[in-house]
Amino acid sequence: MNSSPNHIIPREVIDDIRDGNDIVEVISELGIPLKPAGKDYKALCPFHSEKTPSFTVSTEKQIFNCFGCNTGGNVISFLQKHEGKSFREAIEWLAERIGASLPGRDEKSVQRSRKRLELQDLNRFAMAYFHKQLLTPTVGGRALAYLKNRGIKDKVIQLFQLGYTKPERRDLVKAATQTGFSIQQLVDVGLIKNEERGPTDRFRGRVIFPILDERGIAVGFGGRALSNELLPKYLNSPTTPLYDKSKILYNLHNARLAIQKTGTSILVEGYLDAIMLYQAGVENVVASLGTSLNESHASLLRRFATEVIIVYDGDSAGFQATLRGLHQLLKEGLRVRIVLLPPGEDPDLFVRNRGVDAFKALLNTAINLIEFQIQRAVQQDALRQVGVKAQAVKEISLTLSNVKSQVELTEYIKYTARELDIDKTVLWSELRHLGIKAARPVHPSRNSVSPDKKKNLIPRESIEWQLIEALIQCPDLISEAKEHLDHRDFTHPELTKVAQMLWEASRFENGIDIQYLIDTSVDEKIRGIISNATLRKTVPPNLKARVDGCLKKLKQFLLWDLERTVRSAVLTQGHNSIDMLAELVELSNRRRQFAP
Ligand code: GTP
Ligand code: MN
Repeated sequence: MNSSPNHIIPREVIDDIRDGNDIVEVISELGIPLKPAGKDYKALCPFHSEKTPSFTVSTEKQIFNCFGCNTGGNVISFLQKHEGKSFREAIEWLAERIGASLPGRDEKSVQRSRKRLELQDLNRFAMAYFHKQLLTPTVGGRALAYLKNRGIKDKVIQLFQLGYTKPERRDLVKAATQTGFSIQQLVDVGLIKNEERGPTDRFRGRVIFPILDERGIAVGFGGRALSNELLPKYLNSPTTPLYDKSKILYNLHNARLAIQKTGTSILVEGYLDAIMLYQAGVENVVASLGTSLNESHASLLRRFATEVIIVYDGDSAGFQATLRGLHQLLKEGLRVRIVLLPPGEDPDLFVRNRGVDAFKALLNTAINLIEFQIQRAVQQDALRQVGVKAQAVKEISLTLSNVKSQVELTEYIKYTARELDIDKTVLWSELRHLGIKAARPVHPSRNSVSPDKKKNLIPRESIEWQLIEALIQCPDLISEAKEHLDHRDFTHPELTKVAQMLWEASRFENGIDIQYLIDTSVDEKIRGIISNATLRKTVPPNLKARVDGCLKKLKQFLLWDLERTVRSAVLTQGHNSIDMLAELVELSNRRRQFAP
């Protein structure tokens, strides 16, 4: 994404383009069978599995919301979520749909995007060319036999558009230039290299795996040698204007819908792991292609998944690299679970040797990242020494400090305290050291599976939710709420952001513009909250009384917070937290010795 001012689309233009596209028409055109239901339209939700339709689209409000999974927003958000488009791409798509042009694009950026489109054309051409070579017996016979021998079916070879390149030096160069592409374009997209002897195909005598981005556009290629003696085993496209390996997850395009439906993404290492699992019916699988996980991967996954299950060979170098990237996933608010394969095995071998049911059973044994770290620490078997245990506590605390949800954090802390046989306060003190505030009291019955759902809110958050809902339905009451409450007084992370948006919007405008709020909320959970509150049918009769009641209750919570802060400040003053940690660890060990 480009953030230079040239690329910011003026608000009025966004308004015009959004208003020119009817949300019901667009969603229907994208294949969702909407049925009229009163003033609204309904369908089975495309974003989660359900038997009765709770996906609602309102013509009047131009908003959609699923009351089952709380996904919602306007026509732009729908394109982002369903088609995997960025905000800007969604606007461009909508502009094109109604034949509008986007103003304010300078000549340079127009040229740049034209060039990108041409490179995409070239990749599409190359993909089809390589695929045809594979299916031409005199050319790709041996490669096809190799793939078949590895158990890949014709249908899957076609779906993944697998291909083959001749060993000749200038095969693609010739074919592509004859079709009208230039040498420069071939170089730009990484398909050929300019060598002393002239332009030379990069991929020769290799099985080709086209790499598509999440929208299904071919951005790069991987080529595998036909025998294990030939090195390198895999050759990949270099970084190009289209391809950046740190931003790509292989198979995400195919896996997207299955990931959205299940909420879970399975992360493997290699091309063939992803292909074989997909073929076996495990459709929510993506591959990191041997690169270490980074922030971009994490935010890409977060667009579609709430949980990631890592399935790696624990001895592989790739796994060590991945372990280091896992905090990124937690930071994005993703839950992370891990399954280790027996040494030397990969998912491809595993499903081939033991079948897909065994693989699914294996997935069920996935443990979360915290449990994983604890098990590793416990295996070291030196935990009884104070120093080792304190080190384990430090490492786990570091992981814990990335956990976004307070509910999950509290659960993990409980678990860690039990497994390491230490007091919870040890972990809290370590976390305070890392800048994490102590959790507010959490309702014991609350389950941590889907913290965004209203029914899982703890009492305080549910009052916050009621307040926000009432304010969205009756924005006139915002100014009163503002007098009593700062947006920072909210505790639920997304509700805090919505409050902040409402507080700000009420400063500048007469009334609030829901569509604008949706367009300016970067987090899709926030769009869900806003659309849900807007479309809810059960508007309480007296919103003013409700707002007053909520304000009063939230005040009580605030006072209680204050009291706790003061008390804990008194208790902790004058203690060095590392010393206290060691002391507490030792105390807990001693306590253990005296246990019956
Ligand atoms: P097979 O041996 O064909 O089953 O491939 P694999 O997918 O199991 O490969 P492996 O487990 O050896 O490596 C995992 C991933 O790392 C591969 O899918 C590639 O994306 C990448 N990789 C492996 N070897 C190389 C290499 O030599 N060069 C590059 N650039 N990437 C590699
Ligand atoms: Mn393999």
